[in-house]
Amino acid sequence: MTARVSAMADHEALNPLTRQVVASFEAAPDPRLRQVMQSLVMHLHAFAEDVQLTMSEWEAAIGFLTQTGQKCDDKRQEFILLSDTLGLSMLVDAINHKTTGGVTETTVLGPFYVPPLAETPSGSDIAGDTEGTPLHVVAQVTSPDGAPVADAWVDVWQADDDGYYDVQKPGQTENLRARFRTDAEGRVSFWSIVPTSYPIPTDGPVGRMLGAVGRHPYRPAHVHFMIGKDGYETLVTHLFMAGDAYLHSDAVFGVKDELIVTPLDVAEGATEAGDRVGPHKRLDYVFGLRPSAPAA
Ligand SMILES: [Fe+2]
Repeated sequence: MTARVSAMADHEALNPLTRQVVASFEAAPDPRLRQVMQSLVMHLHAFAEDVQLTMSEWEAAIGFLTQTGQKCDDKRQEFILLSDTLGLSMLVDAINHKTTGGVTETTVLGPFYVPPLAETPSGSDIAGDTEGTPLHVVAQVTSPDGAPVADAWVDVWQADDDGYYDVQKPGQTENLRARFRTDAEGRVSFWSIVPTSYPIPTDGPVGRMLGAVGRHPYRPAHVHFMIGKDGYETLVTHLFMAGDAYLHSDAVFGVKDELIVTPLDVAEGATEAGDRVGPHKRLDYVFGLRPSAPAA
């Protein structure tokens, strides 16, 4: 599409108005900004011509984007939700994160990340009194050659059994969200609950858009991870639970096969602190980090 529309820019057939607007950016001092703005105008004009956009549709679109902005605050990011549900977030992710051996696949950040308040000791329970099937996660962070990455920070966040993140609940304190740090073997462990599928927020313009086009708002059950250390690219990913009904119709298109996991059934065990635990699930996973590109 980019090559086709860019080629149109040099062609006599290009709409004179489009050509005039594209030319208005020609003197932009930043060449990347010039490229982005000119391409944006060409695609935007091509889209309007393609669908023969009506005045009322243009007004509805302005209203929709206005409402999307008005829905945003420090805990709700409706524009990220819009980007996610249009597949733009995953496209940008794919453009910027080419997969290579030993490096974990990336996926969307999602709208509910907030930096954890403090580091939590490895082995802790991040679910507190939250109801659900106990889940013991044992993770290792490695470089592409399999060597452990010590002293990496590991942020974890997930929804509760009702499908809500802590930040969606008025007055809710930090829950099902934590930052851990890997040990000398690159390992962290924690206790949580098995996640469940949940709908993305539908009380805003994005939800109305999904309803209008007959799309469901559900995301398959997952736990979010963000892992970083100096010298490595920060990894933003999820682990999805195998067998979930929405694995193949994720409302934000975030599922990748490598990220689908099957926690094992464990009859009984013990926490890192020595407390006995009855039936629970255990999930082992190795996250591979990509070394940062050397500075040019
Ligand atoms: Fe999520």
